[in-house]
Amino acid sequence: MKNIAVLTSGGDSPGMNAAIRAVVRTCIYNNLRVFGINKGFNGLIHGDVMEMDVSSVADIIQRGGTLLRTARCEEFETEEGFNKTLNIINIFNFDGIIIIGGDGTLRGAKDLSDSGIPCVGIPATIDNDLPFTDYTIGFDTALNTILDAVNKIRDTTTSHERVSIIEVMGRKSGNIALYAGLAGGAESIVVPEMEFSFDSICKKLLQGKNRGKLHSIIMLAEGVGNAIELAEDIEKKLGMEVRITILGYLQRGGAPTAFDRILASRYGAKAVELLIQGKHGRVVGIKDNKIIDEDIGDALKTDKKFNNEMYELAKVLSI
Ligand code: F6P
Repeated sequence: MKNIAVLTSGGDSPGMNAAIRAVVRTCIYNNLRVFGINKGFNGLIHGDVMEMDVSSVADIIQRGGTLLRTARCEEFETEEGFNKTLNIINIFNFDGIIIIGGDGTLRGAKDLSDSGIPCVGIPATIDNDLPFTDYTIGFDTALNTILDAVNKIRDTTTSHERVSIIEVMGRKSGNIALYAGLAGGAESIVVPEMEFSFDSICKKLLQGKNRGKLHSIIMLAEGVGNAIELAEDIEKKLGMEVRITILGYLQRGGAPTAFDRILASRYGAKAVELLIQGKHGRVVGIKDNKIIDEDIGDALKTDKKFNNEMYELAKVLSI
């Protein structure tokens, strides 16, 4: 191992910078050259590469976003694009590539790995929808950002004695809605993994109203249904006033929490160590607070198991 490259791809997540910093500094500490690839697989196709040193990653551990920029790259999925990538890897003489991102990104890492390129993947997405790890980089920060918003929305919801539907991100996963709903004391949590029951939402709202509750929060995962329709149906059926807040991209920015900075630092260092040890085609993750690594193919075979226990707990605590 002499030349290591690092890239971030797909949706950004707070803590990616801390992971880049850890990769760069662990490489330099171990006398390896390290190269940053700009804009994910795009940069790998077009040779958008820069050598990094200790100070290239100074002052970034606390910043959201990604210093290396990111992109979703359709060209990489074509045979031509993929071959261009292999060519660039050859030209720059990369001995290993560390690929930081979510599900789609890590599938790209698997494809490269299957073609014989030594790769290690680092899970980073606010969605926390990857099966092989308890936590992905950025999830904790996104949750805290959401909770800050929920607190503010709750103030005005209470003053007006309204119902608030708060829509959060999560692609096909209800993880963000589940954790934010439990931590934010939502009355109902609507996620793609569990059957949606309009009647049970109404029952909860009425129970709350009858015991003098001044506000109600419904945490809705994006992609489950239409927030506007849900609001209209509730207003029609119960005569309660409903407002909708779609948190959107606010959830993807901001300074990473201590948890995400530490997680990202541990993942970054572990990824470099794996390459040094000649362990390729791996992803890193965390289980029971221990950093683990797993074969990238096995790691991506299944979907993340939804935490039913936590979902039931949220129901009990919101009576
Ligand atoms: O990063 C994951 C995610 O935030 C999903 O929850 C969301 O659906 C998606 O990215 C949207 O991202 P973009 O618009 O950048 O493709």
